[in-house]
Amino acid sequence: MQNGPLSRLFSPIQLGNVTLKNRIIFLAHWTNYGNNHGYKEDGLASERLAMHYIERAKGGAGLVCVTQSVSPTGQMGRTMVQAHDERNEKVFRYMCEEIHKYGAKVFGQFNHCGHTSCMQRPPLLYAPTQMPGPHCYVNTKELEIDEMEEIKSYYVKAAVYEKEWGFDGVELKIAHDGLLRTFISPYLNRRTDQYGGSFENRMRYPLEIIGAIREAVGDGYPIGVRLCMDEFTEWGYSWDYGIRVAKELEKAGVTYINSDAGCFSNYNFEIPNNYIPMGFGVYMAAELKKAVRIPVAAFGRINDPVQAEMILEEGSADMIGMCRQLICDPETPNKAREGRLDDIRHCVACSEGCGMVTQQEGVVCVHNPAAGREKRLGIGTLEKAGRRKKIMVVGAGIAGLKTAEIAARRGHEVKVYEKTSQAGGQMLLAEKIPMRAEMGEVYRYLRVQLQNMGVPIFYNCRADEEKVRQESPDAVVIATGSRPVLPDLGKDCGLTLLDPRSAMEHPERIGEKVVVIDRIGYWQALGVADYAACLGASVSVATERLFAGVDIEETCRENLNRRLYRKGAEFYTSCRLKEVISDTVVFENIFNHKEIRLEHVDTLIIAQESRSENQLYRLLKQKGGYETYCVGDAAAPGTVLRIIFEAEELGRKL
Ligand SMILES: Cc1cc2nc3c(=O)[nH]c(=O)nc-3n(C[C@H](O)[C@H](O)[C@H](O)COP(=O)(O)O)c2cc1C
Ligand code: SF4
Repeated sequence: MQNGPLSRLFSPIQLGNVTLKNRIIFLAHWTNYGNNHGYKEDGLASERLAMHYIERAKGGAGLVCVTQSVSPTGQMGRTMVQAHDERNEKVFRYMCEEIHKYGAKVFGQFNHCGHTSCMQRPPLLYAPTQMPGPHCYVNTKELEIDEMEEIKSYYVKAAVYEKEWGFDGVELKIAHDGLLRTFISPYLNRRTDQYGGSFENRMRYPLEIIGAIREAVGDGYPIGVRLCMDEFTEWGYSWDYGIRVAKELEKAGVTYINSDAGCFSNYNFEIPNNYIPMGFGVYMAAELKKAVRIPVAAFGRINDPVQAEMILEEGSADMIGMCRQLICDPETPNKAREGRLDDIRHCVACSEGCGMVTQQEGVVCVHNPAAGREKRLGIGTLEKAGRRKKIMVVGAGIAGLKTAEIAARRGHEVKVYEKTSQAGGQMLLAEKIPMRAEMGEVYRYLRVQLQNMGVPIFYNCRADEEKVRQESPDAVVIATGSRPVLPDLGKDCGLTLLDPRSAMEHPERIGEKVVVIDRIGYWQALGVADYAACLGASVSVATERLFAGVDIEETCRENLNRRLYRKGAEFYTSCRLKEVISDTVVFENIFNHKEIRLEHVDTLIIAQESRSENQLYRLLKQKGGYETYCVGDAAAPGTVLRIIFEAEELGRKL
């Protein structure tokens, strides 16, 4: 790709004695794929973990960074791989060998979790100073010198093992979580010995670790640092301090700096969701590049190879860190190199699948069912169908589109019938939630794939039994979605009663004083509340739970709450709807039954469970004659994560 449109992105770069074939780094991320076969086997490298990283090498990344913990005291979760454990040898040797076959390099990222843990019952947490991290109430143990020496020895042990097993370099995490940032952080490090008090003292421990690793691995072996440039809190340091740290690291012989930001107290900047602009962190890499001469990587919602090329062209960074984009589409680099930009499945920054790590779940992706299931569903696993079938897919929501995509890839003749004038189903509404337009990428990608394969979508076409009979398919897939239901509030109800879908489809029906009831916990209630608030309505949200939006990904929920509170929304929790009298909505507290009356309401929006629309499925099943399947909301209303996965499975089965 010399002088081609993405020539910078696909040019090599030298890191110590290692040459990367291109500038794309699969950023380190904790996967929770480490084995969990009983206490003794916790945190060992697994086949699942190896396949996940190999897949991204196969997809064309230049460098793959594999997150691991060091020291038995440093694990953030039970299934986080412990780098110092020699039992990882077999899996890691295999993983490195496979990654190398695709021309990629692999670095181990080492982190001691320090004061940050995602375990529900946190273990003893270590920190430079005894104090609970501002993000939680769990207190820490102040590290003693001999404990620090022991941890250091684990870093060295891990680096030595991994160099031997085929890793090409080490990346130390002094980033958004973990022990080493707490040492450099003026707020979190209050020590009065040689490891605290002054800048030089705060830098001492990380620099000692770097020195010890260097001595053990020799010159030339890359030792990079993932560095938090800005803690993004009122108490934390900001990017000017980050640059000061980076300069010291450069002096100490660090090979490159991989920029990063945020911390557990501001998770939004650590794993930026769709409320944070794409490429938000690039300015920090650009400042860093002015200050140091070693290579610098940019990070943070860099999803698009064209955007990546621009960052390199402007001189803001030397390398491009992509984490979730490559979880979502491991083949992004190869597709970009081949000029297939339209085929890239862009990460929508929902953190709804991958973000489950904080709940000790393995990384998955709403948009890519193969994430975490690479062996079974990954690149090259789709087999052509034994017999080419004629398949009718009824409904062009995401369940129908995804099933159609997979079935068509397998060589079936697929036709899609949609009763409305647009494909996308409920994603058409999801993308209307303020700041959530990117959700539309889920259906855009699928629609483009169908178009490229010549799969027709017949719009404004309601498929019924007669239509099926005329088409005479081998198989019918019913993906006709669901319909929201509303309670009967009786004849005394004197206000406009809406479900979230019709509210967003008909904004003209939303009045000035709106009450939203959340009985579902997902996006419907808070999403429509934000929508109504943006239209200028005064909004109240009520829920029986302790807070609204309990099932919304936590960083998005935080952003939503911030937006709603700032717009003056009122929240009523632990209360259920009792009755509506004229324009007064009456709630009662579920614990003490005390009444809350909201008066002069003009619009009541109730988000509660929907009902599957699957009459055609039942009819066809009853009459027989065709292979008939039901998928998505038509089977049971659910979330994108579940539905896309089930559609992929169905597409493979047809
Ligand atoms: C599930 C998950 C786990 C992560 N764990 C790590 C980690 O262990 N080390 C690290 O440096 N960054 C970690 N990150 C942060 C990413 O490397 C990256 O900085 C962040 O996701 C923003 O980049 P992106 O927009 O390309 O995803 C994690 C991100 C995700 C989504
Ligand atoms: S789950 Fe969402 S944020 Fe995570 S990789 Fe997939 S699309 Fe991106």
